[in-house]
Amino acid sequence: MSTTGITSEKDRANAPNTGLEGIVVARTELSDVDGQAGVLTVCGYDIEELAHNATYEEVVHLLWHRVLPTANELQVLQERLISYRRLPEETQIACAAAARRMGPMDALQFIVGSLIVDDPDPEDESYDLNLMRAEKLVARVPVIVAMYHRLRSGQPIVEPREDCSIAANFLYQLTGAEPPVGEVKGLNTYLVTVADHGMNASTFSARVIASTASDMYSAVTGALGALKGSLHGGAPGPALEMIEEIGEPERAEAWMREAVASGKRLMGFGHRVYKVRDPRAEVLYEAAVALADETGEQEALALAREVERAGVQVLAESKPGRNLNTNVEFYTALLLRELGLPQDLFTPTFAIGRTAGWTAHVLEHQKSGRLIRPQSEYVGPRGLRYTPVLER
Ligand code: ACO
Repeated sequence: MSTTGITSEKDRANAPNTGLEGIVVARTELSDVDGQAGVLTVCGYDIEELAHNATYEEVVHLLWHRVLPTANELQVLQERLISYRRLPEETQIACAAAARRMGPMDALQFIVGSLIVDDPDPEDESYDLNLMRAEKLVARVPVIVAMYHRLRSGQPIVEPREDCSIAANFLYQLTGAEPPVGEVKGLNTYLVTVADHGMNASTFSARVIASTASDMYSAVTGALGALKGSLHGGAPGPALEMIEEIGEPERAEAWMREAVASGKRLMGFGHRVYKVRDPRAEVLYEAAVALADETGEQEALALAREVERAGVQVLAESKPGRNLNTNVEFYTALLLRELGLPQDLFTPTFAIGRTAGWTAHVLEHQKSGRLIRPQSEYVGPRGLRYTPVLER
C-alpha cells in the first residue's frame, strides 16, 4: 500500500514534483496573496492602505494582535521595543566576530542565534514569553544589522537611541547622523510593505520549525537561511547590478533579450504567486519617486521604468503565458539605494521588515497549528542487498 496515496502509473505521472504550488499548508489570519488580482491583504487591509498610512510599529502590532493599536497600546509597544534595543553582551561579541569574517546574511543568522542568551527560560513556550521573544527580535534585528555594518567598516559603534522609531533608529545607528525625515518615511514604507506575505519560503520555514515545538529564535534563524537565496530575498542586489550594467534606457531591451536568450533569469521579475504586477512594486516605486527630489535619483528611476517595460515585454515574448512581471525586489533595490544602504545590506533590511511576519506566524502556529510533516514520493530502487565495501 502506497503511503503517498499514489496507486497507479497515471497517478505517479501526475504527482507533484515541484514546489508545493497550490497546496494549502496552514490557515492564517495574517496575510493573503491574490496572485491573479495582484492584491496583498494584511490582517484585512490592502497593503497600499497600510503602506501609505501606517508606521512599521503599528503593523507589527496588527500582525501580532490582529488589530491596529490604540494610541496607548502603540506607546506601550514602542516603549517595550525601545527597551530591548540594547544587545546582550554575548550578542555584541558575536557581532564583532561575525564582522571580521562573515557576509551580512550569514552574520545575521549567526548573531540572531545568540539572542537566546538572555532568555529568562528557554524551555518555557508560554504565549506571553513567546510574545516577549517576538518583541526582542523585532527590536534587535535592526540593531544587529547596524552594529555589524559599523564594525565591518571599521567605524565606531553607534549606540541605539531611545526616542525614535525602528526606521529612524536603524538609519541613525548605521550612519551616526540624524536621518532626514524623507528617508525615515521611505524606510518605514519599505518595512511595512515587506512585513508579511502569505506562505512564502522563509515564512513556511519558520512555521515548519515552530510546528516541531522548537523555539522562536530557531524559527527566525531558519527563516533567515531561506530568505538569503536569490530566488527569494537575495534578488535586490543582483537586480540593482542588472540596472546599473544596462546603464542607459536605450540599451535595456537589447540587454534583456540577450540575457534571456542566454538562459539568464532577470532578477526582480517573476513570482510564484503573482501573475500580474506585484502590488508591492508600485508602493515601493512611489516611495522611491517621493524620495527622488532629495536624492537626485530621477534618472535612475527613469532607467528602471524602461528596464521594467523592456523586461516585461521580452519575458512575455520568450516565456509566453507565464505572466512574468516585476516583483517586490525590483524597486526595493532602487529605494534602498536611495536610502544610502550598501547593496549587501538589502537582504538584511528585508529581514528587518519580515521579522514582524515571521514572529507573527510562529505565534499563530504555536496557538493552533499541528506538526507540519508532508510526504515525499519515493522514486528510487527497493530491496537492494548490501555488498561489502571491498566487493563493490
Ligand atoms: N527571468 C527569466 N525567466 C524566468 C524568470 C525570470 N525572472 N522567472 C521565471 N522565469 C521562467 C523560468 O525560466 C521558467 O521557464 P521554463 O519553464 O521555460 O523553464 C518559467 O519562467 C517558470 O519559472 P519557475 O522557476 O518554474 O517559476 P517559479 O514560480 O518557481 O519562480 C521565481 C518564481 C523563483 C521568483 C522566478 O520568477 C525567478 O527566478 N525570478 C528571478 C529571481 C527573483 O526576482 N527573486 C525574487 C522573488 S520575490 C521574493 O521572493 C521576495
